[in-house]
Amino acid sequence: MLRARFLCMSGDLYHLDDLSSRERLDAGHEIPARLAVIGCPVAHSASPRMHQPALDEAGIAARYVKIEVDPGRVAEAFRRMRELGFIGCNVTVPHKFEAMAACTDIDPGAQEMGAVNTVRFEENSTRGFNTDGPGFEAAITEAFSIPLKDLDVLIAGAGGGAGGALAAHCARAGVRRLVLANRSLDKIEALALSIRRYHPGLRVDVLALGDPVLPDLARQCQLLVNTSSVGLKADDPSPLPPESFTAGQRVFDTIYQPPLTAFLAGAQAAGAITANGASMLLHQGIHAFRLWFPGSHPAAAMRRGLAAG
Ligand code: ATR
Repeated sequence: MLRARFLCMSGDLYHLDDLSSRERLDAGHEIPARLAVIGCPVAHSASPRMHQPALDEAGIAARYVKIEVDPGRVAEAFRRMRELGFIGCNVTVPHKFEAMAACTDIDPGAQEMGAVNTVRFEENSTRGFNTDGPGFEAAITEAFSIPLKDLDVLIAGAGGGAGGALAAHCARAGVRRLVLANRSLDKIEALALSIRRYHPGLRVDVLALGDPVLPDLARQCQLLVNTSSVGLKADDPSPLPPESFTAGQRVFDTIYQPPLTAFLAGAQAAGAITANGASMLLHQGIHAFRLWFPGSHPAAAMRRGLAAG
């Protein structure tokens, strides 16, 4: 049976040097590596757990592998992958900005977000996309049954790469108001300028996380999102104080491990409806897969792959 024949080990870890030849890359494997996630480090990436089951189920003879690429060498990685006939790749931290510079064509959404997380190698171009924004929007719709459009949205930790991408996507999706909060102000002031340039009519407020008016402003927003790295460690505090949350509010943490951060616990204590980043991980993956294989339906296989751990 096709599915069984193509079933292969997912997530093998390689380095840039392994892209020197097909013989080296595929030694010991019947199935060629034709998709990858690149990052530094990348060993922890959950992407192979989603993409390999989807490839196997669709009967596509391709391995999805992890390739560790040092900063400054993303363009070289793309060149080598193209030469070896790769279909595309995902890009994770810290390469999402460097990847944008290394692409020859950029999708307008990725352009506005200022970062690329998915690449498709086409005949005459290396095309960059960003599926984090669409994945976030799909996760919000799935978890909260509300469209992003017309919401007042607060993003805590908007100074990082994820925060910038999601803020830009929210603006594109037509939110009513954006409140950008961050420990330091310089990066979110620059982000607000860039968003206002693309969306002159949108109200964008910029505040420090410690600003005393922030809790009041937060309670006026229907959706609060944490994109800071605060919460990744089990004993991290919430980036927003408890008085920021209200009953019925939607509160989303892009962090999925641990599944219940202090941010979400504080929101739940106030009666808010919460979701973590697991569904965003899934949906950005579905969007990427469908960019490589238009018309495919990878969702069920990806869900099973993630659930299997
Ligand atoms: P990136 O996503 O670009 O790799 P990061 O260093 O992981 O960036 O930081 C992501 C976000 O977490 C940033 O908004 C960062 O705030 P600063 O811009 O002020 O650095 C935020 N962050 C990290 N540690 C934090 C902490 N202890 N308290 C509050 N915010 C923090």
